[in-house]
Amino acid sequence: MMKMSFLNFLSFTCLALATVFPTTLLASPPTLLFQGFNWASSSKQGGWYNSLINLVPDLATAGITHVWLPPPSQSAAPEGYLPGRLYDLDASQYGTESELKTLIKSFNNNGIKCIADIVINHRSPEKKDSRGILCIFEGGTPDDRLDWGSSFICKDDTKYSDGTGNLDTGGDFYLAPDIDHLNLRVQRELSEWMNWLKTDIGFSGWRFDFVLGYSPSITKIYMQNTSPDFAVGENWEQFTYGQDGKPDYNQDQHRNKIVQWVQKAGGSVKAFDFTTKGILQVAVQGELWRLKDSNGNPPGLIGVLPGNAVTFIDNHDTYSQKTWPFPSDKVMLGYAYILTHPGTPSVFYDHFFEWGLKVPIGNFTGIRSRNGIGEVSKVQIMAADADLYVAMVDDKIVVKIGPQLNLRNLIPPNFHVVLSGQDYAVWEK
Ligand SMILES: *[C@@H]1O[C@H](CO)[C@@H](O)[C@H](O)[C@H]1NC(C)=O
Repeated sequence: MMKMSFLNFLSFTCLALATVFPTTLLASPPTLLFQGFNWASSSKQGGWYNSLINLVPDLATAGITHVWLPPPSQSAAPEGYLPGRLYDLDASQYGTESELKTLIKSFNNNGIKCIADIVINHRSPEKKDSRGILCIFEGGTPDDRLDWGSSFICKDDTKYSDGTGNLDTGGDFYLAPDIDHLNLRVQRELSEWMNWLKTDIGFSGWRFDFVLGYSPSITKIYMQNTSPDFAVGENWEQFTYGQDGKPDYNQDQHRNKIVQWVQKAGGSVKAFDFTTKGILQVAVQGELWRLKDSNGNPPGLIGVLPGNAVTFIDNHDTYSQKTWPFPSDKVMLGYAYILTHPGTPSVFYDHFFEWGLKVPIGNFTGIRSRNGIGEVSKVQIMAADADLYVAMVDDKIVVKIGPQLNLRNLIPPNFHVVLSGQDYAVWEK
């Protein structure tokens, strides 16, 4: 036998390993976000955290890597979006602090990280001051952390006009005082609280609520002070609509606003791809030509900044509160798109567990994972007609969406079908 040096032996071993295990298996799995609640979760009998913990194995099997949990703190509204005592996780309608920690541990033990919903644009005061105005905040700790008053509220807050802080750096929230994020004590104490959510509670990252409520330079500060493993902002801009009441074909302005927000927020935070959602939910209703922009690329945020785009079909607002719902009979077409395309896809609780879509969604996440489709995979659009959309992703898979059965020999002969359902199919090499 040929004499082998130790280095040669090492490289030989690595080569052998690489042959046995295709590189996609050695690479880390694609990031997949799961939205682990809906608008009714806070009223779940026995507690939401205690209920969700039973579903951890199903999510691990589907290849979910991150779960977005609802806002964890005491709140004036049961769903958590009017938080008051930020350190008080026992008064949450979703369960106690210890139940939350147990849930997060269970996710972590199954290789899944947890994302906290960070609601910091506004805050609901606990008490009235001597003038009878609701403006006294309590942090929920024995010391004075997060114990704030009027000087921490933006002075141009239209509803709670007793604020004496700086001018608001973003939009107004109408149900609670907008917090002055230019106040250095606000920045320090909120950063400390978020770091406590990491070190003491077990969260790994953030979903920033209503980021249009304050400047992206503020988001940048919280990103720098807390170094999350994963972070995504809810930057929900309105679409422009044509005379026919439908969204304009060209939504470049819409997605460019999100791009600018990401850049001003430091570049590492992701953003929900509201552009893709809005276009996709019209496109799947017989207007699939919308899925190709004027440059031949995907028309949403994934077409210009895929590494920062978090794609989704629906969430606790758009579906649960019916503010911008995806057509319910076309939801799988939506998943066929986002789970085969670049960006970080997210899956909504209702679709996976209540609509019986666990199996087909799991089939798509399996295809994504074994083909190494990821955030910045390359899309080559082969057809975008009213009734037919065909795209090749990374030269690895071809996906077809739409009722058209004549595929016009678009599918290369070396590809074979691996998944098909009502109006969709996927081929692999
Ligand atoms: C879809 O997933 C189910 C459950 O894991 C599996 O039994 C089935 O074979 C999959 N279908 C395809 C076409 O891969």
